[in-house]
Amino acid sequence: MELYTALENRRSIRKYNTDPIPEEKLKRILEAARIAPSWKNQQCWSFIIVRDAAKKTRLADTLHKGNPAVKAIQQAYATLVLCADPSASGNIDGKEYYLFDAALAMQQLMLAAHAEGLGTCCVAWFDEQAAREILNVPPQQKIVALTPLGIPAKEGTMPPRKKLSDFVFAEEWGQKIEL
Ligand SMILES: Cc1cc2nc3c(=O)[nH]c(=O)nc-3n(C[C@H](O)[C@H](O)[C@H](O)COP(=O)(O)O)c2cc1C
Repeated sequence: MELYTALENRRSIRKYNTDPIPEEKLKRILEAARIAPSWKNQQCWSFIIVRDAAKKTRLADTLHKGNPAVKAIQQAYATLVLCADPSASGNIDGKEYYLFDAALAMQQLMLAAHAEGLGTCCVAWFDEQAAREILNVPPQQKIVALTPLGIPAKEGTMPPRKKLSDFVFAEEWGQKIEL
C-alpha cells in the first residue's frame, strides 16, 4: 500500500470479526514497531500479545465506563498491550520522551496493520493498575496503551481534522501562512 494512501485511510476500528490473523502478518506488524525511531535509539517499548479470550475480556473491563473501544477489545483476534520503561528514555524540561517513543512504535504498528488489511485502535483511557495486575507487568514499566488487532467488521469514518492554517505558523508563533 502506498504510504500516503495508508496515512489517509487508516482509521480507528472498533468493530471486528473474531477470525484469527496469520502469524506472518502479526510478525510483519511487530517488525514495523521494532524499527521505529526512539530517544538515543533506546527502544524503551515492549508489547504483550493477548489472545486468550478470558484475558481479553478482563482487559476490556479495565476500560473506563463509556470508552467506545470495550467491544473491540473483546472481539478482535488479539489485544496488543504497549508498555514502556521511562528510565530507558529521555526526560527533558519535564517532557517524558518514553511516551513519544512508545507512540511512534504504536503508530508504525497501526500503519503496518492497516497495510495488511487489519484494524487497530489506540486505547489509552483505561485503569492502568488493573491492567498491570492482569498482565503481571512490573512496576518500572508504564502501560501506555492497548490496541485491538484483527479483521475489521466495519470500516471507520474520518472524524473532522483541523485545517493546516489552524496549526502551521510561519517563522514565529501565531504568524499565518498560506499553504
Ligand atoms: C493517545 C490516544 C488515546 C486514545 N484512546 C482511545 C480510547 O481510549 N478509546 C477509543 O475508542 N479511542 C481512543 N483513541 C482513538 C482516537 O479517538 C482516534 O484516533 C481519533 O478519534 C481519530 O480517529 P481516527 O484514528 O479514525 O483517525 C485514542 C487515540 C490516541 C492517539
